[in-house]
Amino acid sequence: MNTKILKINDNSLKLSKNLILNEELVAIPTETVYGLGGLATSDLAVKKIFEAKGRPNDNPLIVHVHKDYDLTKLVHVDFSYVYDLINAYMPGPLTLVMRHKGFVSRSVTCGLDTLAVRIPDHEGCQQFLRYVDVPIAAPSANVSKHTSPVTAEHVYNDLNGKIEVILDGGKCSGGIESTVLDVTKPVPVILRSGLVTAEMIKRVVGACEYVQNTGSEVVRSPGMKYVHYTPKCKTALFERNELPLAQELYDKILSKGKVPVFLCDDKVSHKLCGEKLLLGISGEEIASNLYDKLLEGEKIADVLIAIKIDTGSEVDIGVMNRLSKACKPFNENEDY
Ligand code: TXA
Ligand code: MG
Repeated sequence: MNTKILKINDNSLKLSKNLILNEELVAIPTETVYGLGGLATSDLAVKKIFEAKGRPNDNPLIVHVHKDYDLTKLVHVDFSYVYDLINAYMPGPLTLVMRHKGFVSRSVTCGLDTLAVRIPDHEGCQQFLRYVDVPIAAPSANVSKHTSPVTAEHVYNDLNGKIEVILDGGKCSGGIESTVLDVTKPVPVILRSGLVTAEMIKRVVGACEYVQNTGSEVVRSPGMKYVHYTPKCKTALFERNELPLAQELYDKILSKGKVPVFLCDDKVSHKLCGEKLLLGISGEEIASNLYDKLLEGEKIADVLIAIKIDTGSEVDIGVMNRLSKACKPFNENEDY
């Protein structure tokens, strides 16, 4: 199969709808990352999603709908604060986990009694969701464990030959996956941090907690236990007070005839000497560049030398969650 990258227009939407209703997959843009979409009510389509990604079958999927879709077809809304969150942040980079009504395939939820639902705030995605007018199950459109894609080309590099169509909606503006929020309790619980931060949720609901994974309890967001977002090159992650050590590693790798590249924010860049991939200054800017730069890094570097970020923004929590899963901490015993 030859994978086609298509601009979003009447023809590509028509083709995509046919594919979706025939239980085939279509990659779609969202404002966070690209998704690998399939008909959420079809066991076969959902099976194809897990196969194309090589995704563990205990990691449930998010269902995407357009902004006028009746969510109560899919889920029970247990608390009135949920409506306040929907009004405030949906469409947007927020996914709500709610008790489901059994409308979508059981394999979407991996047998859980809850379903994760999201309304993306991306015009092309909304056009697509409205055109198909069915719930679309979509994980990030990368091969499992690899860095999530933020351009159609990134999707192509991972999934060429496995799907027929990638709808090209440009570079994703948000850059990290949506905040996953469990709203089945009186106080909402963040299962995965993202651009809708705890502060933003507190402002609407009055309270918000972070999930505590002690290891012994059931993992409430199954995806969080897996290795994630990893680029294909070697990586070494440093604290912000370890810049001299990072520089030492850079120089050592260079002297071996290999290619080191720094991945850092603009604030520390002047303290480092060598080739750099710059992430930007603000938390949002860094989030929006993170995966793009990781994916550029794996192409040009033998070793990506990353520096932790600290902008003072709450968005840092989401960014650091990704960065520390994507890059291994520096280990002086490793042969870089
Ligand atoms: O921004 C996003 O959320 C992107 C775009 C494509 O929408 N999607 C995405 O999907 O990141 P994925 O499959 O890569 O991550 C879904 C996360 C996983 O951590 C999964 O465990 C969690 O959501 N999740 C899904 N359903 C859940 C449920 N019922 N309960 C708890 N966590 C759930
Ligand atoms: Mg993912």
